[in-house]
Amino acid sequence: MILAPMQGLTELLFRRAYQRTFPGAIRQAVAPFISLTAGNPSHTASKAMLDVEPRHNEGSIPVVPQILGNDPQQMLALADILAGMGYREVNWNIGCPMRRIAAKQRGSGILPHPDRIGAILDAVCGHMPLQLSVKMRLGHQSPDDIFKIIPLLNSHPLASVTIHPRTGKQLYSGHPDIERFAQALPLIEHPVVYNGDITTLAQYRTITSRFNTVSDIMIGRGILLNPTLSLQIDAGEPLPDDIRLQLSHKFLDNLISDILQQPMHDESKLRKIKEYWALVHHSIDLPELSARQLLRINTLPDLTKAISSLSATTVF
Ligand SMILES: Cc1cc2nc3c(=O)[nH]c(=O)nc-3n(C[C@H](O)[C@H](O)[C@H](O)COP(=O)(O)O)c2cc1C
Repeated sequence: MILAPMQGLTELLFRRAYQRTFPGAIRQAVAPFISLTAGNPSHTASKAMLDVEPRHNEGSIPVVPQILGNDPQQMLALADILAGMGYREVNWNIGCPMRRIAAKQRGSGILPHPDRIGAILDAVCGHMPLQLSVKMRLGHQSPDDIFKIIPLLNSHPLASVTIHPRTGKQLYSGHPDIERFAQALPLIEHPVVYNGDITTLAQYRTITSRFNTVSDIMIGRGILLNPTLSLQIDAGEPLPDDIRLQLSHKFLDNLISDILQQPMHDESKLRKIKEYWALVHHSIDLPELSARQLLRINTLPDLTKAISSLSATTVF
C-alpha cells in the first residue's frame, strides 16, 4: 500500500508519527507536491522541499518526492537536486484539480493537451538522473483524455502510473469511474497503481480482486479516517474492535505529541491538531457531536486536556 500525497495532511509530521506507531505498515508514501512556478528558484528552501529532506525523513515512511509543473527545464533542475539528496524516483503530478493550478495547464489542467505532455516526457525522460513516475486523473473536463495520453506514457520509460479515476472538473464529487479505469488498465504498459475512495478493507478487496494486474493501491483519506486500515490490509482481515481502538488512540496520541513539540506558535499547533482531529476522530468511534464540540475549543491547553481525557476514559 502507498500513502497518497495530501498537502497539509500527509506531510512529514504525519508520516513520522505513522511509522513510529505502525512500523512498516505502509511501504511507501508520495510526498505532497513541490510546486515549480516560473522564475521562482527559491523552491529549494520551501516547506515542500524541507518535507523531503532526507535527514528529517529518517524513521519515517520511505518517501518519493512529487513535482507539480510543466516546464521541462525546471523539472530537470529540481530532479538534479532531488537526485543529489539521494532520491531514485520523482513523481510528476498531472492530476491536481485546483482551479488556479489547472488554469495554467498544470496538474489536471495539462490532461487535455497530450502534445504538451508528450513534449515534456520527451524532454525529461532519459535526461534526469532518477526515474519518473506519474500520478494522474482520467482527464480534466473529459474522462476520455487519458486514452490520448496512454500511448505517450507507453513510449517513455516510467516507474509507474497512478490513476485516480475522476476528472479534474469533478474535484472529489461523485464516484471514481471504475469502468473507465477498467478500460484504461490493460492499455498501460507500466505498473499501474489504483487510487481513490478506498476507506475499508471490503473496498480494498473489491478493487484488488477485480483488477488483479494493478501493482499497488494508493490510499489517502482512508488512512486519515481509519489509520489502522493498512494493518487490516496486511492481515487480510478486520482487526478486533478493542485492538483497533487502542491502536487508533495510540496513533492520535503520537501525532498530537509530535505537533506539540514543533517549533510553532500555539495558534498554529491548535489549528494543526484540529485539522487532523476533524478526520482521525472517526477512528476512535466518537459520536460526531462530541467530536465537533472539541473543534470549538480555542486554547491549546484546553484542547489537549479534552483529547487526553478522552483517551483515558475510553474502555478498551
Ligand atoms: C487536502 C488534499 C490535498 C491533496 N494534495 C495532493 C498533492 O499534493 N499531490 C497529489 O498528487 N494529490 C493530492 N491530493 C489527492 C490525493 O493524493 C488523492 O489522489 C485523492 O485524495 C484520492 O485518493 P483517496 O480517495 O484515497 O483520498 C490531495 C487531496 C486532498 C483531499
